[in-house]
Amino acid sequence: METKAITTALIEHHEEMRDLVSKIKKDAKKFIFLKKHLDIHHELEEDLLLSHLNTKKKIKAESLESQEEHVVLNQLLLDLADFPQEHERWMVKFKVFEEILDHHLKEEEEDLFPEAEKILSKKELEELGAEFIEMKNHRLSVALKTKPEISNKS
Ligand SMILES: [Fe+2]
Ligand SMILES: [Fe+2]
Repeated sequence: METKAITTALIEHHEEMRDLVSKIKKDAKKFIFLKKHLDIHHELEEDLLLSHLNTKKKIKAESLESQEEHVVLNQLLLDLADFPQEHERWMVKFKVFEEILDHHLKEEEEDLFPEAEKILSKKELEELGAEFIEMKNHRLSVALKTKPEISNKS
């Protein structure tokens, strides 16, 4: 099993998503992959890391803020998934989403994660890291097998 702190593994996943963001700017159809990655990322980040940090006085406020930003981002992801990609407003919406995502990832990488690394032990960070990598790979392999939903409209 890979031994990597969960914070390192999450940052690596951030990089994968930044990569997808730049691909989507050239080909909006790739958006569905970013949505699948982010849905999984948010869920695992919350369940495996933020749920722990929410119980630590020193970092609780920042951790809760990260969680609330997920709510906003998830809302924007749903809007983007529903809105017609051929409409000129789609890319405008996507760029607004990108700004918020960018701010969120940076805040985690520069503030929340370094603080978490001080609060959790190396062993805890690595155990959570292994869990994250295993669950992420499993969930992604299932999610990417299913056909992307084109529309929710019946
Ligand atoms: Fe993250
Ligand atoms: Fe996050």
